[in-house]
Amino acid sequence: MPEQIVFLNDEFLPLSQAKVSVLDRGFVFGDGVYEVIPAYGGQLFRIDEHLRRLQDSLDAIRLPNPHDRSQWLAILNRLLTQHGGDDQSVYLQLTRGVAPRDHAFPKHIQPTVFAMANRMEPTDPQYLQQGIAAVSLPDSRWQHCNIKGISLLAGVLLRQQAEDQQAMEAILIRDGQVTEGAASNIFIVEQGVIKTPPKGQHLLPGITRDLLVELAQQNQLAVSETTVSEQALLAADEIWLSSSGRELLPVTTLNHRPVGTGKPGPLWQTMYTLFQACKAQLRKPA
Ligand code: PDD
Repeated sequence: MPEQIVFLNDEFLPLSQAKVSVLDRGFVFGDGVYEVIPAYGGQLFRIDEHLRRLQDSLDAIRLPNPHDRSQWLAILNRLLTQHGGDDQSVYLQLTRGVAPRDHAFPKHIQPTVFAMANRMEPTDPQYLQQGIAAVSLPDSRWQHCNIKGISLLAGVLLRQQAEDQQAMEAILIRDGQVTEGAASNIFIVEQGVIKTPPKGQHLLPGITRDLLVELAQQNQLAVSETTVSEQALLAADEIWLSSSGRELLPVTTLNHRPVGTGKPGPLWQTMYTLFQACKAQLRKPA
């Protein structure tokens, strides 16, 4: 198999030749932002929403965007061609570039831009049939979780704490309220109403989350972007997590106890079906 081609600083090159300086501020400070964009049947999913969020993240860290929409599309689509029409996940990252180590921004910035596309494995059917386990943990992250920043140490430690307890996700609690998962957004179902925490600085505005809210509204399901207390989480009939990689998964065990009936719930099933229909739409040739 030919070696994977990636994009680094205006060049397409084999992965093994893509090298970044040890003085890159991404390496030294975690000073950068990223996106994860799914592609179904070779088509980028919700690309405008992802590029808008990328711009918001760049604006928030005061890093100029080196590419316009058409340049991004050209880069990402070229990476996608390597794996044909398979489902893929595009990772892209920008950092504040290479400079002598100093916390303050360097005067002249040449951002480091990296992107790669990888095949996306289909979801393990067991997760869909039986659901997954999660644990609730205090949200130990910073105050700007709306920025998709590459400084992910807190998220890494939280996710590992979940793994240490045989759980696939940590559901984070700040001041008694659910914020999100360590790498996902969270939904609950309470008395037939789908609830997800409102956007703000304590959670990432997930592209999958927004689509699910839209789909629920279009299909006349009761959905509310509202605070979700820790108590409401613990008493929920259903809990779901959403992300670009994991799509929409039912959480059927929380803190080692069953959620609702302990099986994926009926509203999860409805939303999962709607989400899959949306993907199928993208795969159809125009
Ligand atoms: N993470 N919240 C956090 C903290 C996340 O890291 C993610 C996604 C989400 C869901 O966002 P979206 O639906 O746009 O993927 C919410 C990506 C997939 C990752 O870091 O790999």
